[in-house]
Amino acid sequence: MSRQQHFGWFLARGFGPQGWGYPSLDWDYDWTRPEIYQEAARTLEQAGFDLVIIEDAPSLGSADTIDLRVRHAFGGPKHDPLLLAPYLFQATRHLGVVPTVNPAAYLPYTAARQFATLQHLSGHRLGLNVVTDTGSARHFSDAAQLGHDEAYDRAEEWLDGIRSLWNSWEPDALVADRSTGVYADGSRMNPIRHRGEYYAFDGPLNALPFPNGEPAIVSPGGSGRGLGFAGANSDVQLALAPLHEASVRAYRAKIHDAAVAAGRRPSDIKVLFAIQPVITSSAEEADRIVAASAHPDEAALVQIARKQSSDLETDLTSLDLDQPIDLSVFGPHVSRGSIQRLIGDRGEDAPLRAHLSALARAGRISDRSGFVGTAEEFADLVEELGDWGNDGVLLWGDFHPVTLHRTLDELVPVLRRRGILRREYADGGLQANLHAF
Ligand SMILES: Cc1cc2nc3c(=O)[nH]c(=O)nc-3n(C[C@H](O)[C@H](O)[C@H](O)COP(=O)(O)O)c2cc1C
Repeated sequence: MSRQQHFGWFLARGFGPQGWGYPSLDWDYDWTRPEIYQEAARTLEQAGFDLVIIEDAPSLGSADTIDLRVRHAFGGPKHDPLLLAPYLFQATRHLGVVPTVNPAAYLPYTAARQFATLQHLSGHRLGLNVVTDTGSARHFSDAAQLGHDEAYDRAEEWLDGIRSLWNSWEPDALVADRSTGVYADGSRMNPIRHRGEYYAFDGPLNALPFPNGEPAIVSPGGSGRGLGFAGANSDVQLALAPLHEASVRAYRAKIHDAAVAAGRRPSDIKVLFAIQPVITSSAEEADRIVAASAHPDEAALVQIARKQSSDLETDLTSLDLDQPIDLSVFGPHVSRGSIQRLIGDRGEDAPLRAHLSALARAGRISDRSGFVGTAEEFADLVEELGDWGNDGVLLWGDFHPVTLHRTLDELVPVLRRRGILRREYADGGLQANLHAF
């Protein structure tokens, strides 16, 4: 029997215009209304997924590059995923819902109370994707702007503070005894007086404690500091790494070492590797897609240039495709790592066309050169990950019904037949499902 694994869906462009600009996705769904997300959440629950994670960036980015972000809707608008969560809870019974939150945006007391409320409303199905995006911080206050590592320090203080508030009621503080008429015992509440580096607040929290565990903490940061944060705090780590045995095992070992260093067990953290597969109905179809991707037409290159321009907040669409990129076009806000990912191993002298073409190029799952293939081929890959001890997979895409059905309709039965994907949910919410195996 294959190793059972956990499945998540990453709504990669957040709570925003679904499928904008892709003619095949032009179905006139209203992205500002809950229905399209509720339909997707029901589909994912039917499929047996543990959780859906909603990407977010609260900011439209640097003031002078906003047009690059909004013109084709790659970088905005985005509405607040925390406020979408209750609609998804209402449409489902078991699925975990994980909005992305940035500690710069919420004071700990407000956050602790809002998250507690959602954890109760949802039957313990809330998770929080904690990110430390430093570019958004300026919208919240001048003092909120920090460097990379300090943003992680703040996130740790924020989460510790929230957890102390969640635990500010002692286990027997809730009495609810009708015979004595006592609802709660105020002497069993910890007043909490937090005076830290970044926050100052008092408790106790005006919300009930959790009978079935706290909201699950999810983290995506892959730097040394990010892995340290995950080791100390997370229930789920979102991993981006080449899916070869050595790199999968090395990534998992780093997370496990970080957990042990923080006094936790390796099994306390589920590592989900992020993959965006293109599932085809035949090997021939997969071969055709891969062959066509080797020769992208101008329209495909322009679309990639637009997306990169939004993500890198740098206009690549006005550059000559047949010249190398002058690296001074990238402002100081663009990380070296992001530029390096664009340039790859082709080097700075290669023309822009070569970099964009490389991004267009797809590969076959069957020879491990990419992620285009049949459901059986993809299941082989996931099974192999399981053989290396992996906990799960994070499928990556939009929430459009067309995307979900193309990806899942053939895949789910194959994964189920092989025993990789759950058929039943555990009782008790997201934590119970994550720790059921
Ligand atoms: C799967 C995945 C999902 C992510 N989701 C978000 C997100 O929703 N919002 C965000 O600001 N950053 C997101 N990030 C970026 C990370 O939070 C982080 O900024 C980035 O990995 C750099 O952190 P690091 O230096 O610790 O790696 C995501 C990264 C990955 C790999």
